[in-house]
Amino acid sequence: MIDGLQACSAQAIGQLERQTHEVIERTIEKGREFAFTSADFERVRKLIYGRAGISLSPNKHEMVYSRLGRRLRTLGLSHFSDYLTLLEHGDAVEWEAFTNSLTTNLTAFFREEHHFPVLAELLQRNKGTGPISLWCSAASTGEEPYSMAMTAVEAFDTFKPPVKILATDIDTNVLMKARQGVYSIDRLEKVSQERKRRFFLRGKGASSGQVRVRDELRALIEYRPLNLLDASWSVRGPFHAIFCRNVMIYFDKPTQYDILRKFVPLLHPDGLLFAGHSESFHHAADLFRPCGKTVYQGVAARHTAGS
Ligand SMILES: C[S@@+](CC[C@H](N)C(=O)[O-])C[C@H]1O[C@@H](n2cnc3c(N)ncnc32)[C@H](O)[C@@H]1O
Repeated sequence: MIDGLQACSAQAIGQLERQTHEVIERTIEKGREFAFTSADFERVRKLIYGRAGISLSPNKHEMVYSRLGRRLRTLGLSHFSDYLTLLEHGDAVEWEAFTNSLTTNLTAFFREEHHFPVLAELLQRNKGTGPISLWCSAASTGEEPYSMAMTAVEAFDTFKPPVKILATDIDTNVLMKARQGVYSIDRLEKVSQERKRRFFLRGKGASSGQVRVRDELRALIEYRPLNLLDASWSVRGPFHAIFCRNVMIYFDKPTQYDILRKFVPLLHPDGLLFAGHSESFHHAADLFRPCGKTVYQGVAARHTAGS
């Protein structure tokens, strides 16, 4: 009897919760510029997961509304459902804008600083062996590949080190910014005075408050769009180092494993894979073993990198 009563009240509470939720949703909708339901949000999550492997957490509802709202405004649409239908019909330009809107591009010069002496050591170890290729696979607005380039210039003590850096990202907007190499001066807050002097030009007049990366550094880097989720990548290895930092966190483990498996033949036998601070590849122990703080080498590597 008591069990029956409990089941009934649980059912009633569940129904009440759903009704309350719908009322709240409709109330919020009324004050909004665009109609955006929970079902629309779920569609967005599914689409960006399929496209870029990005798992958007359920609390990103507001972020999605504000970022994609700009697209709806530009296109003169008032319902997210119409926007999503447009995407599902395969509008290529809109797919690019959709993806660009939903990526998170946080980065910094010499972020996770402990990686750069390891890279410098790798470069020095390979001195005189011919051109050295590096790949920055989630380059964002360029601070990471430029930090790699500065490390190469310092390691070889010349602005023409035998180093080529391929810098890729799925987001075409950030790549455009990266190519320009122009940053607000406060982005250099943590960069040493010596590096500031050596690698950056200060803007004057209308450009004051901005800095520009020296052309010699820009010349070391080739920028190209690349989706790590794509079945095949238009990159040619082997790379002496692959930087894949702070992007795997957006992917689930099977997706991470697939990407790591594709890195293996692209990494030089003695090459290193650099990961972000909260990323670990224990689930791919058959492919990579740790050899330092968030640094990995292939399981078949000949050289044993120090930690
Ligand atoms: C948080 S930023 C990290 C930037 C830099 N690696 C760092 O650690 O400072 C993540 C970058 O990954 C890119 N990204 C997200 N999904 C991607 C994918 N499927 N393929 C390639 N890049 C992706 C984003 O556009 C973004 O620029």
